[in-house]
Amino acid sequence: MWRVGILTASDKGSRGEREDKSAQVIRDMVAGIGGEVVSYRIVPDDLDVLKEILIKMADQEKLDLILTTGGTGFSPRDNTPEATRAVIEREVPGIPEAIRYESLKKTPRAMLSRAVAGIRHQTLIINLPGSAKAVRECLEVILPALSHGLEILTGRSGECGAD
Ligand code: MTE
Repeated sequence: MWRVGILTASDKGSRGEREDKSAQVIRDMVAGIGGEVVSYRIVPDDLDVLKEILIKMADQEKLDLILTTGGTGFSPRDNTPEATRAVIEREVPGIPEAIRYESLKKTPRAMLSRAVAGIRHQTLIINLPGSAKAVRECLEVILPALSHGLEILTGRSGECGAD
């Protein structure tokens, strides 16, 4: 079982003005790789709030994986990549590269997501876009490789094997 956290960045969602359908998609899909969502927060798109919550989820809750949704685009209030970059110690560029590469086959707008991924201590943090459709498309790309990455990160496996 992987301990998974969801951080939804949404001004409207945090005011209760929008249903968070993306979090439910994440819950359903991570269950397929043995992930259990043990922490969920929906917060406004403030850079400092996002940084603080990411640090709390990684350091205090000691999650294996944090999936953020929303706030990766071009709006002045889209701060999720900056918050993530500020708290990670090691960037994992291959994850957003893979997401954008595959997503571009579905929509040219995939290039508009500034999502990043990286590691803080033993927690992997991955930015996903905000819409439920985009979240589904992006998770489909990365889930097949995630368990292996998390096994190495958490020390449950030390070998990459033959694959
Ligand atoms: N990626 C996929 N796979 N599918 C999508 O529909 N939408 C794009 C992009 N990435 C999309 C996607 C759009 S329209 C935007 S503006 C950016 O993600 C940023 O989204 P965000 O601001 O909700 O994070």
